[in-house]
Amino acid sequence: MKKVGFLILILIAVSCTSSKKEQANHINVKQAVEAKKGMVATAHPLASEVGAQILRDGGNAFDAAVGIQFALAVVYPRAGNIAGGGFAVYRKTNGESGSLDFREKAPLAATYNMYLDENQNVIPKLSSFGVLSTGVPGSVDGMIELHKKLGSLPFEKLIQPAIDLAENGFALTENEAKKLNDYQKDFLKANDSSTYFFNDGKWQTGEKIILPELAQTLKLIRDQGRNGFYTGETAQAMLGEIHSNNGIITQADFDAYQSVWRKPIEGKYKQYNIISMPPPSSGGIALLQLLKGSEQFEFSKFGHNSLESIHLMTELERRVYADRATYLGDSDFYDVPVDMLLDSAYLSNRFSDILLDKKTDSKDIKEGNVDIIESIETTHFSIVDKNQNAIGITTTLNGNFGSKVFVENAGFFLNNEMDDFSAKPGIPNQFGLVGAEANAIVPEKRMLSSMTPTILEKDGNLFMVVGSPGGATIITAVYQNILNVVEYGMDMQQAVNASKTHHQWLPDLILYEKYGLDSLVLNQLQEMGHKMEPRSAIGKMDAVLVLPNGTLQGGADTRGDDTAVGVH
Ligand code: GLY
Repeated sequence: MKKVGFLILILIAVSCTSSKKEQANHINVKQAVEAKKGMVATAHPLASEVGAQILRDGGNAFDAAVGIQFALAVVYPRAGNIAGGGFAVYRKTNGESGSLDFREKAPLAATYNMYLDENQNVIPKLSSFGVLSTGVPGSVDGMIELHKKLGSLPFEKLIQPAIDLAENGFALTENEAKKLNDYQKDFLKANDSSTYFFNDGKWQTGEKIILPELAQTLKLIRDQGRNGFYTGETAQAMLGEIHSNNGIITQADFDAYQSVWRKPIEGKYKQYNIISMPPPSSGGIALLQLLKGSEQFEFSKFGHNSLESIHLMTELERRVYADRATYLGDSDFYDVPVDMLLDSAYLSNRFSDILLDKKTDSKDIKEGNVDIIESIETTHFSIVDKNQNAIGITTTLNGNFGSKVFVENAGFFLNNEMDDFSAKPGIPNQFGLVGAEANAIVPEKRMLSSMTPTILEKDGNLFMVVGSPGGATIITAVYQNILNVVEYGMDMQQAVNASKTHHQWLPDLILYEKYGLDSLVLNQLQEMGHKMEPRSAIGKMDAVLVLPNGTLQGGADTRGDDTAVGVH
């Protein structure tokens, strides 16, 4: 507990510094962490410490990933989860790579029109709030499969730190206390005043959270594997919550859920090999499209966040997100034209009308008119061990605290991932993303994601592990993080800290981080006709870079409590 207390003091000091320095464009608030024998970067210092300790105890990167996923479910309940889903991309020390899809699925009773009223209009919030927004969770099955295939230490040892944190308690960080307070009304609306996280907005920094019900659920998973979650008392607790609120998930959904090993999306950017997530994530395809398009321009010559670089990234993003909306969905249900979307001739034609000094209008690419409604949360962590096994996992409940429904008897939130489907073609979801038939609701289908856990190789060796939360902005944040290192020579910490922009075709505007752009560049972009909209943050990256001498360099985003811990 002493170590935990010390960590929390450091954390409070760091988060105070970070809020004061918001105007400083997040740059140079932290130094990159370097170590030779392992690196872990996650959204929470306690989860990073869990992962680093597993590495110190002789576990590999994949063991650490399992431990971190469960630890985040305790200490970072807004996105860490056992009742959500996610994606893992890994590369073993021998160069073999793969990806695991533990994304949620539509329930068996889901229907194409389930979020529409009798006039075929979308019913506001039905797909994003309450139990009807919940997809069949995949995280527990995913972690068990990951451990079975790639783990080296006993599963019981990996989940135990999460049990200890839930049972013995941990202190709230300033950021997490604030986030809980921000969502009090939603907790009350989705549950009632007796649920653990409803506290009438009085959560305090440093306050101790103890979750005995979650500890018990984690013990069931420890002792019974997937059955500890998908059957018995945990399943009954979830189904009790779901059915008392007219939800449609049944035991048959839990029994049928299986995560899937998939061949990653792979392709070249200059001398780098990019390994990323295939459908049902749009991340890998969109990232490669952006990087391949970037090869047509000299980004390093224009400079980081210059007028030209932001304009060109925007024009590339506009076209890539239009493709995303039209062609991408779960490839188990829809024939996603992956080869065509990544074909060199297709891409050079697709980007051939981009001009350095002229903005395109998104309506000239395809019509539409949408708003981005809610801010979002998800979480990403990156790990490299002493043998350079590497893994990046992005995992989520979708919105902060998911559906806001808390399964009181089992101690966790249910996801609201159904909102990532296209409830009606052309109508935006909570991220303002539009979709088409490719992402329509079908029972047992997985909803399209933007999560982009990614590994880069350089000259056949491991180079970077990277990923981010942020809904629609995940792909563009990962893209810029790669450019920051490869084109602008930043170190891992500078790259994650650097101010980012985002464009997603519709709405036709550039999001930028408040105080993050040079005011002259901002004015020039506006003069070109770009509509500019400030945001508090774009992306929240946790990444690891392998330096030429083999040293591991961790970068943990100063937009949150993110922490990189090296193993020496
Ligand atoms: N729920 C966010 C995503 O999967 O992209």
